[in-house]
Amino acid sequence: MPQILDGNRVRDEIKAECRPRIEKLVAQTGRPPGLAVVLVGNNPASEVYVRNKTKTAADLGIYSETITPDADITTEDLLKLVRVLNLRPEIDGILVQLPLPKHIDEQAVLLAVDPEKDVDGFHPYNMGLLATGRPGLRPCTPAGVIQMLRRHAVEMEACNAVVVGRSTIVGKPMALLLLAENATVTICHSRTKDLAAVCRTADILVAAIGRAAMITADYMKPGAVVVDVGMNLVTSRAEAERIFEPGRMAGFEKRGSQLVGDVHPGDVARVAAAYTPVPGGVGPLTIAMLMQNTVEAAERRTGAITGTIADA
Ligand code: GUN
Repeated sequence: MPQILDGNRVRDEIKAECRPRIEKLVAQTGRPPGLAVVLVGNNPASEVYVRNKTKTAADLGIYSETITPDADITTEDLLKLVRVLNLRPEIDGILVQLPLPKHIDEQAVLLAVDPEKDVDGFHPYNMGLLATGRPGLRPCTPAGVIQMLRRHAVEMEACNAVVVGRSTIVGKPMALLLLAENATVTICHSRTKDLAAVCRTADILVAAIGRAAMITADYMKPGAVVVDVGMNLVTSRAEAERIFEPGRMAGFEKRGSQLVGDVHPGDVARVAAAYTPVPGGVGPLTIAMLMQNTVEAAERRTGAITGTIADA
């Protein structure tokens, strides 16, 4: 039987580690760490993500507020809003939920966030710290994957790691974080030749593509560790039947849709030595790492951390 990499357990560990740090910050500064979330417009998926983030913050005693400008806000007004948050002393972390409406200059907005408050780790300054191996705020999802692997004693040193997907949010920082663990890293994308053959070289395979169950058995080396970052909602019956065996259609039958990762769930259970399930794998870690980054940003801002801490 393959090992199932349990994201809920790791999330609980990370949250438990945050609690005493938050208590200490309250004792030192008289206030909890503060997180501001900017949610533009009415994207239903983003609304769910943001609600889960603020609920987790409340559970930990982190102050949070959600600012919800209308979808037609201009780039200039959004920049002004971010600059106000940069200046507010009780706000330690700022997160601008993506995607932003098409008319907004996303790069300009991410660039406007004070790098010290950039709890998503998306600012080019923090990306540069990551690329040059210096401490800094790391993007939450890939940092969560590293925590998942470390806390399940998956050896990363000298292994062949293949990352499928080159996004700024996941693929690129994932590759850099694996490199920092001394893995030999390959990044694949839509133009990669013979993707399946490259993926079969992986001791650790990370799928961050955004296509339901695309990574099938022929992409996996037997005994590989497979990490699935995908979250795709399958709504077509034909697609669901391609992915799920007849005995595993109950979720789809009940709801008319089913959450599926980028990795084929039946194939990975047959071929991998260890894998992250969907749901219950990487998903819970993104929010846990956001909380950890918020605590870390608050500690840095109060001088509790002087810039020489180990990597997240
Ligand atoms: N949209 C999807 N994932 C993320 C994330 O990690 N952070 C932000 N800000 N937006 C997202």
